[in-house]
Amino acid sequence: MYRSKIAGIGKNVPEKIITNFDLEKMMDTSNEWIIERTGIHERRFVTQPCGCAELALPACEQAIADAGIEKTDIELIIVATTTPEHQFPGTSSFLQAQLDLKGVPTLDIRVQCSGFVYGLSIADQFIKTGQYQYILLVGAEIQSVGLDLTTEGRDIAVLFGDGAGAAIISRSDNDSEILSTHLFGDGKHAMDLSIDAPIGYECPRISKEMIDEGRQFPQMNGRQVFKHAITRFPEAVREALKANNWSIEDVDMVVPHQANMRITEAIAKRLGLPLEKVFSNIHKYGNTTAASIPLALADACEEKKIQRGDKVVLAAFGSGFTWASAAIIW
Ligand code: COA
Repeated sequence: MYRSKIAGIGKNVPEKIITNFDLEKMMDTSNEWIIERTGIHERRFVTQPCGCAELALPACEQAIADAGIEKTDIELIIVATTTPEHQFPGTSSFLQAQLDLKGVPTLDIRVQCSGFVYGLSIADQFIKTGQYQYILLVGAEIQSVGLDLTTEGRDIAVLFGDGAGAAIISRSDNDSEILSTHLFGDGKHAMDLSIDAPIGYECPRISKEMIDEGRQFPQMNGRQVFKHAITRFPEAVREALKANNWSIEDVDMVVPHQANMRITEAIAKRLGLPLEKVFSNIHKYGNTTAASIPLALADACEEKKIQRGDKVVLAAFGSGFTWASAAIIW
């Protein structure tokens, strides 16, 4: 068995900043409401047609450089996204073509906000068994073009943003290591945060009636999501601690999926963690679904909030419901 690590990290966000005041002009909402309920001040939106692969490309190049490898070292590309450019094939195929890595296998995973940690677990298994030495793992989302940016869709539209993060997962020859990953799900809640149409079992899968009813937009049972998130996040973190005989005091930084600042605060409280030990950048990017953890890791490294050798716990919760954690020596 080999050991694995996160060898490099990178990020890319669209240039266009959309503030809460910009949203006030599109729908009946307010800067105060959004900040109080979510902690979000601004988010990024793409301004011209752009797929997740295109948005992710600069993040991948950064991660490759950060890991000190050549792109041709990559043996597998895994992409986590909720917002692929096409129903099929997956975003990873488009990314592979843009990276010009013909022959490299590609894999999309669809577990929404938990996608990066699920992907980390998949990459970890391939490295541990010795099948691959270098894997590119990406979380990328373009939520903005799929949101109902009117008052009708305001409960969800104010939460989400666009962005991409990438990591190189490699064999470890030093202290850095992915120590454990834990994955969970409960499909009973699948429709509590979902997009209804196109509908796989209807013919046609999308109709004018569905569009007129707004069924192509995401829908959310916000209270149900909130209630489960504040329970499942701490459970996932505790699993990570237990598996490694760590106490919460041993952890240098928890990097959670950036769902909502109120959720982050509730997790910190339940775990008995000071907020300084829970990384947050939701104020500037909103919830970027599968991209949020790699974006947070990239920012945490840039701000020197996590450094090589630190004990880091990643935790995610999202649509499905799915949730997951990872314990890492950075
Ligand atoms: N701006 C202004 N008012 C809004 C609004 C917005 N963007 N969105 C909803 N409202 C209104 C509602 O219509 C409701 O009005 P009413 O009382 O007249 O019916 C009022 O605000 C309160 O809505 P409510 O649903 O009770 O708010 P809440 O305190 O539950 O907060 C969420 C709503 C969405 C912020 C909260 O449920 C939440 O954080 N859920 C989890 C969301 C999440 O993190 N999702 C991603 C998970 S990965």
